[in-house]
Amino acid sequence: MIKVAPSILAADFARLGEQVKAAEKAGADMIHLDIMDGHFVPNISFGAAIAKTSIENCSLKHDAHLMVTDPESCIEDFTGIGVDYITFHIEISGKRVDLGPNRWVYTIDDKPDSQRIKSTINLIKSAGCKAGISLNPPTDIRHILPFLSDIDLLLLMSVNPGFAGQDFMPDVYDRLDTVSTYRRDNRLNFEIMVDGGVDLSNASKLASKGADILVSGSSFFQSSDFEGFIRKLKS
Ligand code: DX5
Ligand code: ZN
Repeated sequence: MIKVAPSILAADFARLGEQVKAAEKAGADMIHLDIMDGHFVPNISFGAAIAKTSIENCSLKHDAHLMVTDPESCIEDFTGIGVDYITFHIEISGKRVDLGPNRWVYTIDDKPDSQRIKSTINLIKSAGCKAGISLNPPTDIRHILPFLSDIDLLLLMSVNPGFAGQDFMPDVYDRLDTVSTYRRDNRLNFEIMVDGGVDLSNASKLASKGADILVSGSSFFQSSDFEGFIRKLKS
């Protein structure tokens, strides 16, 4: 069955402990931590101190989604507080594309920096964490294929990262087809997570196309019945 990972980016931070406890009680499978540095994405979110509050208040697994230019420098902060997965972006050595006033997204022009990506995966794994890579919507899906045998988690963005509450980009369906077919044909085991604008209108199609874990920020934390929402998202 599909797993659900509420993103605390959309939680009420004044009641964070209470909110993650409620998410666990409602049947969430893990907690998604959106870490933003104001450089890789046009927003700053929170760091390891806030993430630790979530970890201390529930027994769910936590995945740290590092939307940062320099993931190598903060991996230790997150392994140190006990996160289970650390995901960084394939576009860390890519180029910035401006989308409008104070809006941008990183993508890859030519090729990803393969050596840097492999050493970052090794850094995460040698700290005892599961390693994930994320892809932004404009990045050619073929760039990820050479790394799929090295990772535990592939995080496909279905919005340009930076903010909760954005509209879902349906292009992710074709990308899911590509990677889930590749996973099957090559007998690989990485999990596929979809992140951004996920709600009851797209969850079942995402699951049918091979997604294993759905991140849900606004749709989860704005629902008045966490348990009912998760039940519907999974059905
Ligand atoms: C976007 C983040 C997402 C987002 C999810 O940059 O990576 O995790 O906060 O929130 P919703 O579900 O509201 O799009
Ligand atoms: Zn995220």
